Amino acid sequence: MQNIRTYVDEHKERFLNELVELLKIPSVSADSAFSQDMLNTAEAVANALAKAGCDTVEICETRGYPIVYGEKLVGADLPTVLVYGHYDVQPPDPLDLWESPPFEPVIKATALHPEGAIFARGACDDKGQFYMHVKALEYMVQNNALPCNIKFMIEGEEEVGSESLSAFVKENQDKLANDLILISDTGMIANDVPSITTGLRGLSYVEVKVTGPNRDLHSGLYGGAVANPINVLTKMIASLHDENNRITIPGFYDKVEELSPEEREEMAKAPFDLDEYKSALKIDAVYGEKGYTTNERNAIRPTLDVNGIWGGYTGEGAKTVIASKAYAKISMRLVPNQDWKEITSLFTAHFKNIAPAGVSVEVTPHHGGQGYVTPIDNTGYRAASKAYESTFGKVPIPQRSGGSIPIVSLFEKELKSKTILMGFGLDSDAIHSPNEHFGVWNYLKGIETIPYFYKYFAEMSA
Ligand code: BES
Ligand code: MN
Ligand code: MN
Repeated sequence: MQNIRTYVDEHKERFLNELVELLKIPSVSADSAFSQDMLNTAEAVANALAKAGCDTVEICETRGYPIVYGEKLVGADLPTVLVYGHYDVQPPDPLDLWESPPFEPVIKATALHPEGAIFARGACDDKGQFYMHVKALEYMVQNNALPCNIKFMIEGEEEVGSESLSAFVKENQDKLANDLILISDTGMIANDVPSITTGLRGLSYVEVKVTGPNRDLHSGLYGGAVANPINVLTKMIASLHDENNRITIPGFYDKVEELSPEEREEMAKAPFDLDEYKSALKIDAVYGEKGYTTNERNAIRPTLDVNGIWGGYTGEGAKTVIASKAYAKISMRLVPNQDWKEITSLFTAHFKNIAPAGVSVEVTPHHGGQGYVTPIDNTGYRAASKAYESTFGKVPIPQRSGGSIPIVSLFEKELKSKTILMGFGLDSDAIHSPNEHFGVWNYLKGIETIPYFYKYFAEMSA
C-alpha cells in the first residue's frame, strides 16, 4: 500500500481537474430549472465509475432523479462494501455573497487550507467527498489492490429528502446486499485532529401557516382590533422555547436518550476551543439549552429552529398593512430514540393548541428521518480507525455530528447493515452556505485513506 501516496501525488492534477469538471454542472435538486443538469450529472458520474473500473454501471430511473449504481465484484468469498453518496447539491443562493460564481470552481488558499481549497457549490457536500471513493477505486483497480467487492450508489435527491432512494432500497435488497455501508458526507474535527462521525441526528421538517382576516387590512383602520397573523406567529414561535432554552412541546423529550456522565466526560475530551468557535462566527456568546456544552448542544441534544419566516410587506419603503397570512419553516433535529413521525405529530398538536382565537393554523410536514448511532466496537469502525491512523499518524476520535443523513437509518432497517461515516470536510467549509469549499489536502488525504480502509476491512473480516 506504500504506493498509494505516490499514486495520489502523480495523479493529483488530474484528480482535481476531474472534480472541477463535475462541480461545473449545477445539479440543484430543489429547483426544477436544473433538471437537465441533474441528468447530465448522473451521466457524468456513471462515466466516471465506468472509467475508474466498475464492471457494471447503471443509471437507474426513478420517479424523481436517477440513482447511479455501479459495481466491481472481485470474489464471492470477499466482503462487500456499499458506498453511498449524493450528486445533488443545495441551491447556491444568496448569489451575491459568493466571492466567485458557485459553478465556476476556483482553487484558493484559506487560513485552514493553506494548500488551497476548491470553492464551488457541492465541493464538500457531497461531490468532492464521494468522488474520493471513485478515485480510490481507480487506484485499487489499477494496482490490483482491491480486497473487497464494491458497490456504488450515488443518488440525486439527498438534499430534498431521498424519497426515490427509499423506494429503490426497499425494492433492491438483493442487488444492494452488503456487509458494510461506507459514506463520506460528514466532517472531521481538524486536519491535525482526525475524527470519525459516530452519530447523525434525525430530522422533522414542517411548514406552518397562520391565517387571520380574509384579506390584507389597513393597519390603521384595523390595527389593534384583529389578530395580526405575523404578531401571532412570532409569539407562538417564541413560546416554543422556555427560559432555559428547552423546547416546550409536551412529550418532546420523553424518549430522548440521556448520556451517562461517563459518556459525556468521554465526549468532552474532544479538543474544542470556545473562543475560536466564537471568533470564527463573530459572535460574542454561544446560546443554547441550559446545562449542556456547545458540543453537546449540537450533537446529543434535540433542537427546534426556524429556517425561514415570511409574510406581509417586505419590499422597499413602508406599507401600512396587516397581512392576512404568515408563514414559517421549522426544523427539529432529533436524537436517538426520538421518532420523527411522532415528533411531527406532537409538534402539530401543540402548535394548533397554542393558537389564540382569531387565527387558524395549518401545519404541513415536509420530510424527516431517524437519527443514527454507529457502534465503535465492530470491524467496520476498527478498519476505518486503523486506516486514519495509517495516513494521519493519529488515532481518530469518535464524534457524533449534529447533521442528518436520514437514509442511513433506513439502510440499517432495510439492508440490515451498519454505516461507517468517513467524512473529510471541516465545519468551516461552509456547506449549504455561500463560498462552500473543500480542502485540496482533505480531498487527496481522503483518496489516500480509503484504500487502507478496504485493506483492513478485508483482513479483519477474513
Ligand atoms: N452531508 C449533509 C449532512 C451532514 C453534514 C452531516 C455534515 C454531518 C456533517 C447532508 O447533505 C445534509 O445536508 N443533510 C440535511 C438533511 C436532508 C434531509 C436535507 C441536513 O442535515 O440538513
Ligand atoms: Mn451531504
Ligand atoms: Mn447537504
